[in-house]
Amino acid sequence: MSNRQTASGVTVAVAKGRILDDARRRLEAAGWVWPLGEESRQLWVGPDDTHPGIIIARAKDVATLVARGIADLGIVGLDVMRENPDAEVLEVADLEFAQCRVVLAGRSPAWPDGPCQIATKYQRIARQFFQEREHPISIVPMSGSLELAPLIGLAPYIVDIVDTGRTLREHGLVEVTTILHSSARLIANPSHWRTKSEVVAFRESLRSAAS
Ligand code: ATP
Ligand code: PRP
Repeated sequence: MSNRQTASGVTVAVAKGRILDDARRRLEAAGWVWPLGEESRQLWVGPDDTHPGIIIARAKDVATLVARGIADLGIVGLDVMRENPDAEVLEVADLEFAQCRVVLAGRSPAWPDGPCQIATKYQRIARQFFQEREHPISIVPMSGSLELAPLIGLAPYIVDIVDTGRTLREHGLVEVTTILHSSARLIANPSHWRTKSEVVAFRESLRSAAS
């Protein structure tokens, strides 16, 4: 099936932020037009022969849109999927961009000595990680600037994303251990995946553009 035949039936929800630029590049590498301008504030555009429909959404909402069939496919980080696992979606490809790790970090690389406080926006991932190790913790919810927490005495440890390690270093923090390796995933609505051949063909176009 050629690209021109496949685009018209497919809508893709893409997470805002870092994922968006790489997703645009991958679509273009696969031969699709990216239908939103660089500075555009537009959040939705319908499909045509040259591109799929695109919905730009908050990362947490991408799986909801896909589970409800508003979008056939979604592009979102594995970290977000693991933190918000309730939506019924299929993971159909590892797109291999937005690579990063969710780590436990603190002022020293030592494992926490006894019960401790963890500042994080990954509350579920952190709770599950420590529960599996039967280590008591309490969560201090924070939605950004996590690296501040140990410096200002809010919590001695954080669970956050690391890529180059620069942000940790600049705040005098070190990794204790990696909890999760993450990258952008292509997710699909289960029923559309089974019944719409153009959705599967679209996945193939993105996969072959990676090599
Ligand atoms: P939101 O505000 O909607 O929660 P966010 O601001 O956390 O999103 P981004 O920082 O743009 O989102 O990150 C989007 C995704 O990119 C993350 O879910 C993760 O998978 C990945 N990511 C985050 N930080 C990095 C990084 N430094 N290097 C590589 N990938 C990253
Ligand atoms: C992410 C993450 C770290 C940083 C890690 O923050 O929360 O702070 O990247 O990357 P590094 O290891 O390469 O330094 P981001 O810049 O996305 O800001 P935000 O979390 O406040 O959105």
